[in-house]
Amino acid sequence: MSENEGQPRNRAIVTGGSRGIGRGIAEALLGQGWRVFLCSRSEGSIAEALHELGGRFGGAVAGRAVDVRNQEAVDAFVAWVLGEVEGIDCLVNNAGLGRFGPVDELTGEQWREVLQTNLDGAFYFLHAVAPVMKRQGDGWIFNIASLAGKNPFAGGAAYNASKFGLIGLSEAAMLDLRKHGVRVSAILPGSVDTGFADRDQRSERKDHGWMLRPEDVAAMVLHLLSYPSRALPSLVEMRPSRPPK
Ligand SMILES: NC(=O)c1ccc[n+]([C@@H]2O[C@H](COP(=O)([O-])OP(=O)(O)OC[C@H]3O[C@@H](n4cnc5c(N)ncnc54)[C@H](OP(=O)(O)O)[C@@H]3O)[C@@H](O)[C@H]2O)c1
Repeated sequence: MSENEGQPRNRAIVTGGSRGIGRGIAEALLGQGWRVFLCSRSEGSIAEALHELGGRFGGAVAGRAVDVRNQEAVDAFVAWVLGEVEGIDCLVNNAGLGRFGPVDELTGEQWREVLQTNLDGAFYFLHAVAPVMKRQGDGWIFNIASLAGKNPFAGGAAYNASKFGLIGLSEAAMLDLRKHGVRVSAILPGSVDTGFADRDQRSERKDHGWMLRPEDVAAMVLHLLSYPSRALPSLVEMRPSRPPK
């Protein structure tokens, strides 16, 4: 019998849960009766999200400002969550950003900001949460990668590198953890209509109606969480079905 036997299986962490895709996933989980712990980088952003979501979902949602680039802060956040609930059933590694430009024009600071947020931050959360899930013999970790993790584009040196790396991390962690009952999946969305950094510099299009929406990615997370426990879709690509011609 696993340690999690008889325990609720509805406790989730969503990184970058203040806005965009993370917020959509948090809302979907809350709507299904999960307890959700959010983090995002800025105090103002997390406070606004907690105010709005708390009004709708009460004490089921809580959160703190955490910079995922800081391993000590990540460990402290996970320890805080485990002081509030006895386990963690779902981790969504979603916090991320993009800085774009030709490789010789990117600054070292921009490179580090992207790699440390999108890749190091995901590792720190995996590192902190995996032992908890291994003890439970159960859990699911979703890494929000991107189609940019398989398809390089000009100007994408830092972002592509971070997402190629995140897919590698996700697949290796999947092989490490599945024998302990812990599932790990990378979700690779195409363009999602959010305030994602630098969107306006990359796209002149004003009509975003063709794009995926945060709730589409959230629907995939909920779908996977309802999957039979013997099955593990480890890499999920999601595309807008009707991109502009
Ligand atoms: N939008 C797309 O087209 C698209 C497509 C494929 C994959 N993705 C991926 O999906 C994820 C979410 O993107 P999004 O479009 O929802 O972006 P977004 O609307 O810009 O939201 C980004 C979230 O990440 C948080 N964040 C950024 N840096 C952080 C840090 N150092 N520590 C903690 N939190 C941090 C932000 O917190 P603050 O609010 O505090 O700034 C915010 O909550 C990213 O990993 C992105 O690469 C996006």
